[in-house]
Amino acid sequence: MSKLRFYCQNCGHETPKWHGKCPSCKEWNSIVEEVQKKTTTNQNFGISSNQEIPTLIQNVTNENVEKIITNDVELNVVLGGGVVSGSMILLAGEPGIGKSTLLLQMALKDDKNVLYVSGEEAATQIKIRANRIGIVNQNCHIYSETSSQKIVQHCIKSQNKYKYIIVDSIQTIHSDFIASPIGSVSQIKQSCSELLKYAKESNTSIILIGHITKEGQIAGPKVLEHMVDVVLHFEGQKTHLYRMLRSKKNRFGSTSKVGIYEMEESGLKPVLNPSTILMNNRNANLSGTAIASAFEGHKTFLVEVQALVTPAVYGTPQRSANGFNLKRLHMLLAVLEKKGGFKLSSQDIFLNIAGGINVSDPSMDLGVIVSLISSNQDINIPSNICFSGEVGLNGEIRPLPLIDSHIQEAERIGFKTIVISSYNKTIHLNSKIKIIQCSEISELYTFLSKL
Ligand code: TYD
Ligand code: MG
Repeated sequence: MSKLRFYCQNCGHETPKWHGKCPSCKEWNSIVEEVQKKTTTNQNFGISSNQEIPTLIQNVTNENVEKIITNDVELNVVLGGGVVSGSMILLAGEPGIGKSTLLLQMALKDDKNVLYVSGEEAATQIKIRANRIGIVNQNCHIYSETSSQKIVQHCIKSQNKYKYIIVDSIQTIHSDFIASPIGSVSQIKQSCSELLKYAKESNTSIILIGHITKEGQIAGPKVLEHMVDVVLHFEGQKTHLYRMLRSKKNRFGSTSKVGIYEMEESGLKPVLNPSTILMNNRNANLSGTAIASAFEGHKTFLVEVQALVTPAVYGTPQRSANGFNLKRLHMLLAVLEKKGGFKLSSQDIFLNIAGGINVSDPSMDLGVIVSLISSNQDINIPSNICFSGEVGLNGEIRPLPLIDSHIQEAERIGFKTIVISSYNKTIHLNSKIKIIQCSEISELYTFLSKL
């Protein structure tokens, strides 16, 4: 027996009839018809222990649960120690960002039994990539297959010998229980739940690669993110070498950690000292650039902020931000206009974070403000000063938690001066770096104009 359903390909919303515009996410032309075959087998999407009564928490054992420590130090940090056995991880990112490279190198640099299922590339193509990365693991199996039942059957037949399974990508996998096209919402949902069931029953970890839509969402149903234990996002700009791995959901650890990688000829290399690479080689004192100290994912690093403030050529002034939140830039510009008295409303403003990474930490605010003032007033900022502070709506420079780590990092890199908030009273450090404290924008401007 089959049933007709309509699904939004953008957000996964299910409706009994067709709409031109999705009632949930308001996307046009995203609703498609999918036929669902009713199967006689009872499909179990959740986890069932087959016990009749619940167990007392003190009697639940977790001896079987182990953390598989991978060879990738950054990945271990982001995952909170390693891959938990029996867990399901989803790695999402834009095409060409390096998802397949990241996971293939994880499989190749290991010494465990690993299965790499690819529905996107043929084994020969994977071999070419593997040769670039370097093959260390003699137990990495490549399987070009797209049927979730065949994958599960193969794993059961091989006596669950795999420590973990990589699936590249979930959008190419289909289930024989469903007649809808590959990549459709119900296919993704069904094949993911079949793989999930195998992962939990056999205590094998599964890492899925997921595509994202042009809006940056994980393609397919939201339920995919609910089903898996960990959601990782791999981001960066393809034209730049640096990539950031962030965790958006982690049932086994915190989501505040980030990993930074550099894409090289022979794969992705973890960047252990981000400050030195995120700043361009700066010798000259230039106007429009400032070094900001950011705290992301338990790491403090210094980045170069570049701003260009120039009179608008066309009617409406343009504002663009690369690597920084545009809304936050608008807010900082409004503060500069209202509290600092700078006339910026008729200027085109371009902001860029060097290195092509995205930084969202508010401690960047001060560096951004300084680069804007520097470009607008043509003030050269000496290359041995860095800035760290959050800017509030009243133009006040707000204190940062863990200011010591910013000061230590700036000193370690060789900066002579760091500008922070006057409200950071508890500085216990015995550092040689000169600390300048400012309480608001006007005070900061007075300091800058004396440089
Ligand atoms: P890939 O892993 O195929 O991206 P995704 O799976 O996210 O679509 O990575 C693609 C890019 O990475 C490609 O443009 C080439 C580059 N690359 C390197 O620079 N060095 C390497 O060693 C490898 C394997 C890829
Ligand atoms: Mg790929």
